[in-house]
Amino acid sequence: MTDRLLQKGPLSFQDHWNLSGTSPHSVRTARVEIYRTMRAQGVPEETAEDLRTITSEFVTNAINHTVSRVLFVWAQITQTEAVVGVLDRGPRPNKPLKPLHPTIDQEFGRGLALVDQLATRWAARGIGRGTAVEAAIRLPRSYQEQLSTSDPALFLVPPQGLTSQRPE
Ligand SMILES: Nc1ncnc2c1ncn2[C@@H]1O[C@H](COP(=O)(O)OP(=O)(O)OP(=O)(O)O)[C@@H](O)[C@H]1O
Ligand SMILES: [Mg+2]
Repeated sequence: MTDRLLQKGPLSFQDHWNLSGTSPHSVRTARVEIYRTMRAQGVPEETAEDLRTITSEFVTNAINHTVSRVLFVWAQITQTEAVVGVLDRGPRPNKPLKPLHPTIDQEFGRGLALVDQLATRWAARGIGRGTAVEAAIRLPRSYQEQLSTSDPALFLVPPQGLTSQRPE
């Protein structure tokens, strides 16, 4: 599923959470979990902060623009990038997701523009009835070097949990 969103190399780490798609508390939970998880993996503070902001926008969008009972949120780390993603249960948007350009007095339409600014790359795709969005931030060379000297078995972690989200 998520491997068909952003093209990625082998994962050195991943985790995921099922959150309520109807409670605004999910935004805070996702923010806390993503930041804690990324920092626990040694991701630099600024990158973890940006991933937290991106997650916040993705989860808020899923809550505000879909009628999902459950949201699936994930964190992944590859040799070069830290990645966050959110899958909702739809309905899907009627046109491809892209950053809007709100005028100064428009209150909404800034979330995806912010994601676009913070992420190295991001993508959205219809999955089942809903939409999966994923964003990656490139990791600094120091982190990559640290990863490349860790146990090579780390890179063989299968994408558990994600397969269960494939559309029926
Ligand atoms: N998961 C989603 N499912 C369906 N539509 C979405 C989803 N995420 C975003 N959209 C659509 O894309 C538009 C742009 O999203 P964006 O986050 O930039 O702005 P917003 O949510 O309208 O306002 P803001 O994020 O500034 O509060 C939304 O108005 C909505 O129509
Ligand atoms: Mg938004």
